[in-house]
Amino acid sequence: MELWIRNFWKIFLKRIKIDFIMKDMDELLQESYDGFERVINIVNSLRSFSRIDQLKSFVPYDLNDAIKTTLTIARNEIKYSADVECNYGAIPGTMCNSSEINQVILNLLINASQAIKDSGLQGRGKISIKTYQKENNICCEIRDTGPGIPDEVIGNIFDPFFTTKPVGEGTGLGLNISYDIIVKKHNGVLIASNYKNGGAVFTFKLPIITEN
Ligand SMILES: Nc1ncnc2c1ncn2[C@@H]1O[C@H](COP(=O)(O)OP(=O)(O)OP(=O)(O)O)[C@@H](O)[C@H]1O
Ligand SMILES: [Mg+2]
Repeated sequence: MELWIRNFWKIFLKRIKIDFIMKDMDELLQESYDGFERVINIVNSLRSFSRIDQLKSFVPYDLNDAIKTTLTIARNEIKYSADVECNYGAIPGTMCNSSEINQVILNLLINASQAIKDSGLQGRGKISIKTYQKENNICCEIRDTGPGIPDEVIGNIFDPFFTTKPVGEGTGLGLNISYDIIVKKHNGVLIASNYKNGGAVFTFKLPIITEN
């Protein structure tokens, strides 16, 4: 190689601090790889959350798996306000409209997280999720350490457009839609109550339907 080209190349490499860049390369690649893994995980969760490739409305459904997927979707909303504790029971699968039930789980999780945030309590709150079987139903209980539901509004929370959130923050449709999905479309049960030590508890039950 001509001398001037070699010198030019040396100066060029020095200028762009190639050594420094190469040293950081490993770290950069590892971080990018971790980022890709997270993106893949989120996209897979979104696919299975919304079941974009599903044609039939009632399909086999694993409630425990669905909760795990929905927690990935809700992670950004919850992570600053609460820790999540899950207690998955050994429950059978059922048949249901999976994206609709996932929507209910998401609504309940976001309400729980917002209740904790709005309570203004110091420190992190907690969301406890429990699944279990009772007779011919699979059940899911979502409890939070927020302020609970005041007695004067507990009779209205499933009404359309009922919200206690500031204008522009809540549409008051989350629980109304959830009630419609669980009770009217799936013959299930959706109950709201307050826990004895404070905080709200939402429980939904779905009948166990076996494939035929
Ligand atoms: N976990 C909870 N703790 C205390 N209050 C709750 C809880 N979940 C719901 N609520 C009460 O029920 C009301 C209705 O809830 P809903 O989810 O239908 O509407 P929203 O959260 O206000 O608005 P959005 O339509 O965005 O969900 C809430 O505004 C709140 O007053
Ligand atoms: Mg809501």
